[in-house]
Amino acid sequence: METIKKLIKQYFSGFAFFYSTLRHRLFIAFLISFTFGLLDGLGLAMFLPLLKLAGGDNELTPSEAGDYGHFISWFNEIGIFFTIETILFLLVFFFFLKGVFKFFAHFYFVKVQQFFVAQLRLNLSKALKDFSYKKFISLDVGRIQNTLTGEIGRVSTAVQSYYKSFEQMILVLVYAGFAISIDFRFASMALAGGALSNLAYRSIFSRTKSASYEVSTQGNLFQNRIIQFINNFKYLKASGSSELFYKQIKESVFFLERLQVHIGKLRATLFASKEPLIIAVMAVVIILQIRVFEASLAPILISLLFFYRALGAFMMVQNQWNTYLGVSGSLRNTTELLTDLKKGQEKLKEGKVPEHIPFIKLDNVSFSFKAKDWILQNLNLTINQNETIAIVGESGSGKSTLINIICGLLKPSQGKVLLESKDLGQTNLKDFQRRIGYITQEPVIFNDTVFNNITLWQDPTPENMARFRAALQEASIEEFVNSLPAKEKHLLENSGANLSGGQKQRISIARELYKKVQLLVLDEATSALDSQTERIIQENIDSLKGRYTVVIVAHRLSTVKNANRIVVLNKGLIEDVGTFEELMRRTPRFRKMVELQEL
Ligand SMILES: Nc1ncnc2c1ncn2[C@@H]1O[C@H](COP(=O)(O)OP(=O)(O)OP(=O)(O)O)[C@@H](O)[C@H]1O
Ligand SMILES: [Mg+2]
Repeated sequence: METIKKLIKQYFSGFAFFYSTLRHRLFIAFLISFTFGLLDGLGLAMFLPLLKLAGGDNELTPSEAGDYGHFISWFNEIGIFFTIETILFLLVFFFFLKGVFKFFAHFYFVKVQQFFVAQLRLNLSKALKDFSYKKFISLDVGRIQNTLTGEIGRVSTAVQSYYKSFEQMILVLVYAGFAISIDFRFASMALAGGALSNLAYRSIFSRTKSASYEVSTQGNLFQNRIIQFINNFKYLKASGSSELFYKQIKESVFFLERLQVHIGKLRATLFASKEPLIIAVMAVVIILQIRVFEASLAPILISLLFFYRALGAFMMVQNQWNTYLGVSGSLRNTTELLTDLKKGQEKLKEGKVPEHIPFIKLDNVSFSFKAKDWILQNLNLTINQNETIAIVGESGSGKSTLINIICGLLKPSQGKVLLESKDLGQTNLKDFQRRIGYITQEPVIFNDTVFNNITLWQDPTPENMARFRAALQEASIEEFVNSLPAKEKHLLENSGANLSGGQKQRISIARELYKKVQLLVLDEATSALDSQTERIIQENIDSLKGRYTVVIVAHRLSTVKNANRIVVLNKGLIEDVGTFEELMRRTPRFRKMVELQEL
């Protein structure tokens, strides 16, 4: 029982995975393969009467045909008699039909494979889209990237080889059926021999499988290192550390090479030894058949023809199966990523977000990444509509975390964020986030035109153009865009590598101003700018005062002087809230921060 369970698991774990996506398509594939094999078998079977008639007879009768006489009786009953002409006609007819089915088998396979890959790509991308930010922080970027790009190719091969081994297995069964009906004893002996010889390959299969999973794991690592190499290229160059990093990459590359060569060696062994082994089995069976059982050679020859076909198909099964095992690690890797992504899905609530939000209230909000390791504790704060609130505090005091909670990127571990009286956790978060402008210290630039970067792929209608122009002006970037060779159609390549830090930041700001937002969140948004540009943008942001709700985090306290209220955060606790003057008067920590900056 245990062995059967193990066998089912070994051969059908992939089946469940493919079936979950392909469903009825697998059965259609089964039918096509079966018909294909049947037609081929019938065509080949015509060689036997042909051989018999080679003696000079005009027509073959059931009694002359021996073991397969019943076939001939069936045909006789429907009025077909076996003369040379009918035999040849049937031969051509069966092979012709087989050709038609061959076309369908190939074509259908490509359709199924592409369907599978497209579904997998979509499922993974969709799961990534709805993945929670909190979970995303601890996810390996290399793994996501490798799986969604490189591994998909290997999964595609896995579908192909699984499908092909399935298809060929059906052919083996059909051919074996024919062989058995022509010469039962010979066929049974040959089948038993073939099955026994197959045991020799079990260790090759299991070694291939484990090497394959290792390839996926190492592939993720390699991809991860490459991404880090690209992301930190400038630093690695400037600090002369690229050589050290290259060493890491080299290690991964060599490891992958060794693994693939190992898999290749296993495949070569399988490939090369299969035929001689099976031929040896056949030779033994033929000797037994002729010397021990004193059987005649003619049915053996046709049976052998089927065996040769069955053998070809069987070798294909084994090769395809080994290929499947060689990439099955990717299947496992991809399924695991999909499961991980599905586990971290953000559950979107249906609740409507109010059109106007008179205030956002943090109601006793605490937050921790790990249990009891509080990063924010018991925060109470009301942010009124169109108020400008600044958050200040030492590095690590929790400012960015607080902002992420207000934006719904992170959920409070305790307490609630209320939009007026509605719990943010119970509303349609995406709808709320569409009304938020979010700008951080790292500007976000897409590899696209200036226009698309700011409008996020809107059509350039006159109305949108006017809005676009206004956003450029408000972010003090209009002059720069006009100076570009293709103006707003200028391509910002490589995440804006050809722009200055300040230009990138102003484009990010323009994007948020283009969007019709109710809440503008700035986390160190202007820290990368020189004081003059910062002042201009600050003036622009100040001019938004009273029109938007603004939550701003800034180290430079001069930029938050004009805020309606300033929140002083200290180690995850709100120490005080008040205007600049109030805090200068009563909060020593704040006074000290200002004094330090005035030095
Ligand atoms: N993914 C994470 N897992 C565990 N702890 C984290 C994670 N992200 C941040 N923290 C911790 O949370 C605390 C608050 O971080 P946060 O980024 O909110 O600080 P900040 O006030 O914005 O600092 P800065 O001024 O340097 O930007 C820090 O102690 C940080 O180490
Ligand atoms: Mg921060």
